[in-house]
Amino acid sequence: MRDGYGREIRYMRISITDRCNLRCRYCMPEGIKLSPMEEILTFEEIAAVCEAAAALGITRFKITGGEPLVRLGCPQLVGMLKGISGVEQVTLTTNGVLLGDYLDELLRNGLDAVNVSLDTLDAERFRQITGFDELGRVRESILSAVGRGVRVKINSVLQDGINAHEWETLAGLAKENPLDVRFIEMMPIGYGKKEKTIEGNKILSLLKEKYPGIQKDHRVHGNGPAEYYRIPGFAGGIGFIRAVHGQFCENCNRIRLTAKGELKPCLCYEDCVDVRSILRRPEVMTGEDRRKEAVSEDIRAAICRAVHSKPRKHCFDVREQITEGRQMVQIGG
Ligand code: 5AD
Ligand code: SF4
Repeated sequence: MRDGYGREIRYMRISITDRCNLRCRYCMPEGIKLSPMEEILTFEEIAAVCEAAAALGITRFKITGGEPLVRLGCPQLVGMLKGISGVEQVTLTTNGVLLGDYLDELLRNGLDAVNVSLDTLDAERFRQITGFDELGRVRESILSAVGRGVRVKINSVLQDGINAHEWETLAGLAKENPLDVRFIEMMPIGYGKKEKTIEGNKILSLLKEKYPGIQKDHRVHGNGPAEYYRIPGFAGGIGFIRAVHGQFCENCNRIRLTAKGELKPCLCYEDCVDVRSILRRPEVMTGEDRRKEAVSEDIRAAICRAVHSKPRKHCFDVREQITEGRQMVQIGG
């Protein structure tokens, strides 16, 4: 379906939990309040939203968190969504810690691709950034996913004075392995507001100096706003998500569903359309088909409202206009 600016919206990011097994400061600072479980959508409720979305032409879904794999049954949810008529693709964004444990089950349930968040290849720095000593497990799970032929993308957020110099080693992952490494500009959401982002263009010019043969890759790699490059001799690609300095909003194709059941038209603004209250209306429990159909109709209407209220663009460059006050982990990255 199209939004008010003529953009085709066909992709939904679904956060299934606000819990995480790491504590990356820019995403989930210590002391953050977790939502009680009863406020979080059940898998059946999530599937009902996806069914309504698929009927409207939103056919690609990304499961995110928090960390989605800390929620029990995540692979089963993948299977439930893949079973919905019209669903083309279900993918996952994870920190990779539990990916190795669940990989077989995820693939058996039809997972189409995986994004792994990884900001450093240095064990001590990994501990500094995430609070845990888990780099080994993350690296192993990336390698086993690649080895199984899964489409893998690495998401790296570079921060000045912390891991900015790792652009070279991180990019090197795409030399040996057929995976994409994507550099994401830190967005001024939650704690991210306090950090200084490294511009994608700066990393690109450093890469150009080191690899003069680097060339723009015009093929489509995924659902996102990343721009890709190829370096001769590299098995995979290098991507840039210029979340702050790029003007990618005109190609925006997405909408978000938070763990608590709010449809979120844009990352930058707090405005949401609540679907949980529709899903939990008493008549949903009665099991009468006619009433259930009325509920699905209302969910479809809520999705349409959210899509039509998408703003033309984000305002990350004018910080006073950002109205989203929550942390990234509460929204779903
Ligand atoms: N800006 C950009 N990316 C962020 N992420 C979390 N917070 C931010 C932010 N403020 C990223 C994580 C992960 C993805 C889910 O979102 O690093 O890769
Ligand atoms: Fe779309 Fe908002 Fe993201 Fe821009 S910031 S690409 S309008 S969701």
